[in-house]
Amino acid sequence: MSVRDRIEKLREKIRHHEHLYYVLDAPEISDAEYDALIRELQQLELEHPELITPDSPTVRVGGKPREGFQKVAHSTPMLSLDNALTPEELRAFDARVRDLLNGSDYRYVAELKMDGLSMSARYRNGAFEQAVTRGDGSIGEDVTENARTIRSLPLRVDRKPAFETRGEVVFNRKGFERLNAERETAGLARFANPRNAAAGSLRVLEPGITASRRLDYFTYFALDENGRYLFDSHWESLEWLAAQGFKVNPKRRICANADEALAFCAEWEAERDNLPYEIDGVVVKVDSIPQQRQLGFTAKAPRWAIAFKYAAQQKETQVVDIGIQVGRTGALTPVAHLAPVAVGGVTVSRATLHNEDEIERLGVHIGDTVLIERSGDVIPKVVRVTHHGDGRKAFIMPSTCPVCGGHVVREEGEAATRCVNTNCPARLKESIGHFASRGVLNIDGMGDVLIEQLVDKGLLKSVADLYELTEDQLAGLDRMGRKSAANVIRNIDRSRTLPMPRVLGALGIRFVGERTAELLADHFCDLEKIANASVDELQQAQEVGPKVAESIREFFDESHNRELLARLKAAGLQFQHTAPKREGGPLAGLTFVITGTLPDLTREAAKEKIEEAGGKVAAAVSRKTNYLLAGEDAGSKLKKAQELSIPVIGENELLKLLAET
Ligand code: IVH
Repeated sequence: MSVRDRIEKLREKIRHHEHLYYVLDAPEISDAEYDALIRELQQLELEHPELITPDSPTVRVGGKPREGFQKVAHSTPMLSLDNALTPEELRAFDARVRDLLNGSDYRYVAELKMDGLSMSARYRNGAFEQAVTRGDGSIGEDVTENARTIRSLPLRVDRKPAFETRGEVVFNRKGFERLNAERETAGLARFANPRNAAAGSLRVLEPGITASRRLDYFTYFALDENGRYLFDSHWESLEWLAAQGFKVNPKRRICANADEALAFCAEWEAERDNLPYEIDGVVVKVDSIPQQRQLGFTAKAPRWAIAFKYAAQQKETQVVDIGIQVGRTGALTPVAHLAPVAVGGVTVSRATLHNEDEIERLGVHIGDTVLIERSGDVIPKVVRVTHHGDGRKAFIMPSTCPVCGGHVVREEGEAATRCVNTNCPARLKESIGHFASRGVLNIDGMGDVLIEQLVDKGLLKSVADLYELTEDQLAGLDRMGRKSAANVIRNIDRSRTLPMPRVLGALGIRFVGERTAELLADHFCDLEKIANASVDELQQAQEVGPKVAESIREFFDESHNRELLARLKAAGLQFQHTAPKREGGPLAGLTFVITGTLPDLTREAAKEKIEEAGGKVAAAVSRKTNYLLAGEDAGSKLKKAQELSIPVIGENELLKLLAET
């Protein structure tokens, strides 16, 4: 693999895990594993600076906020911290600080690093005004009403001028255990750890639920309205916050140097299980704010602070059974059911085994004793088998989905076994999200939160049920007024007119993205013909190889999916397609790039017009581009086109070109 490919693969992997962590609150790897990926990428980029792109995760803060709450911009970005995993790394951080401060005196404040999620809380005229989650660091979600239910968040303070606090929302261990016990009795999925439980509780649409969960808010920053520190010393702001009535962790210390900070880290590592909440390390900050300013920030984190991360905690226990969980992508994940054991103060009774390969690699059987590991924010995992159990039993992956009874398949070269039934409740939410998304069937307003409610209330049991929804049904839901309900219904109606390749792409068949859907549509012109084509026939279409063809065949061999297709046809979606005259069309041989917002046409519509006339639409401007079609707010592509002296046209000129020829 070339370095370029390796870098791109790594970036994709990191983005995937950032999305899981920041947007979905469902991390699959530990912070340490994530850090290792980032470091590998940083190293490669250091060696090949020419391959650095502005969208690399190394130059970015986090993921996107999810839908459902109002989005609010932070006064200044809420950054994350660089980690030190060993005392040497903390000393290296200290050496950098000393270096950058040119020999002036400095001191640190060491605080516990609570394992929750960060949130800002704004005050005005002495009253709590607004709370916002971290989100992607620049824009978070307004969770004011939920935050208001947190008892450790003061609703009134002495200070009248507006200011903002930042801190950590955490779930205490006892409450967490109780909540999980309740959820288990109610047949709901357990939260993997207190951090997820805190995030899940703060981001529910019902403040009543948040209130019942007893969250805590520990503050660690006090800023003015413009995001500047209120004081010149961090320690002083902590004292001030405590005096205003905020919960400030009393387990903090001024440290004269790295040794003292390390001593604080070691003390609390020994005591961490005795704390009522989870910590995953210690944060060490330069105390003086002028010095903090002098040190500044990298793209991702301040240079004046570091998180000293504790190692994962391990314990031995027995595997009582191995069960299956079906995820949103249809992946069947084997989960070890364990004899409950306390690891780092939390009772663990489940651990993910990821997939069949992992079970084989570990050699784990039901009845074995295993070593399990918790690293704070991640689902516990099995490290290795320590004893073979008497009468141990091998795990066998089921041949049907335990949720819906549909077929499961494991593709060659893939680790995951998947349920292929799109109507499987476990997969349904994800399938609907894809179906409705931009660039697929464009059902604006059909976001995660709405989908969640519709599926949970039983109004959507299949993607096809979308076309039977009524305005009245929608208007009765949380955060749905008449007007938004009418909008969503209108957008659903509109999707019936979108071209057939969109419908094909919307089905979410593995390996059938936008381009493959178009090539298939051009070849077969009829969606039902595609559904009935053999693997060989499918491969007659351009760029369709055996892997893609088999995946399509498998999809349409599933009876639920045939049913879905029939219902979509009955709902009036487009099943026919006229292949564009690519050769000999009026724009044949011409390559266009589209940028900015066009006055009347959507970009998709412009693209379709160009392609119908035989032209091509490329994603990036190069010397091969013949025209740049630019609308309002065109940015870097316009600049590039001008540099290369490529003609820039507007929508009207495109229409003229089409009419002329
Ligand atoms: S300072 C630039 N102090 O840890 C601002 N963060 O790994 C960095 N955290 O996003 C925040 N306890 O969510 C700070 N005492 C503490 C903390 C703390 C927990 C979290 C916070 C931050 C993450 C960084």
